[in-house]
Amino acid sequence: MLKLGVNIDHVATVREARYRGLGHGEPCPVMAAKISEAAGAHGITAHLREDRRHIQDRDIWRLRESIQTRFNLEMANSPEIVAIALRLKPHIVCLVPERRQEVTTEGGLDVIAAEKSLTKTRQQMQAAGIEVSLFIAPDPQQIEASARVGAQFIELHTGQFAEHFYDTEKCEFELQRLIDGAKQAHSLGLQVNAGHGLNYENTKTIFRVPHLVELNIGHSIVSRAVFVGFETAVKEMLAVMQGYRSPA
Ligand code: PXP
Repeated sequence: MLKLGVNIDHVATVREARYRGLGHGEPCPVMAAKISEAAGAHGITAHLREDRRHIQDRDIWRLRESIQTRFNLEMANSPEIVAIALRLKPHIVCLVPERRQEVTTEGGLDVIAAEKSLTKTRQQMQAAGIEVSLFIAPDPQQIEASARVGAQFIELHTGQFAEHFYDTEKCEFELQRLIDGAKQAHSLGLQVNAGHGLNYENTKTIFRVPHLVELNIGHSIVSRAVFVGFETAVKEMLAVMQGYRSPA
């Protein structure tokens, strides 16, 4: 079964638009997490950014207390955030780029450039019982480097696929890269997640990608929730995701 991790960052984005710096306010990301889990989500994802643009420190500690499924903390590989993660002990961290020099041309983490420090962080996380995922473009060299780092998971960046969804030729090209990347990662012993830009329309097309464990989806769920409510938005995404069978 393909799992759904609900990214609740944009619930906090709406709250911060009105209540920044006040330490309270609505809508509450923890409530979004609870409703997502009750609706059947398999995990909750939140990104504690260095600039604290949406999720705040208090949110991650409250999430840690309340999440009953799996807590995936998205984070930069920076000393401040690594120290927080080691104390917080989420189930898994997904290391993502936040600064220009950490990003490949396609927007994923440049694992090759940061192999040494990513390996150190992976070792620290492993010692604390935290799994590690690396958010990367479906680039063969980045996938090989991710295996060398010793991460348990990669999360394939589906942003280019989503961006070109309405251009048949480009979309097919991006889809093929995701298919090849998933096969390569699987052959190297990596587990494969995917995310970014997935929505109610394009997610079924991702079914052609083999070996997928989990999709992390945020913006489209939060957007739909504005009109139909969070519970229905999550249930509708789970319904879209039903029936995934890894192609051979
Ligand atoms: N996965 C990762 C690593 C991300 O950084 C994001 C965006 O925060 C997502 C998934 C979710 O993307 P979206 O909000 O477009 O669904």
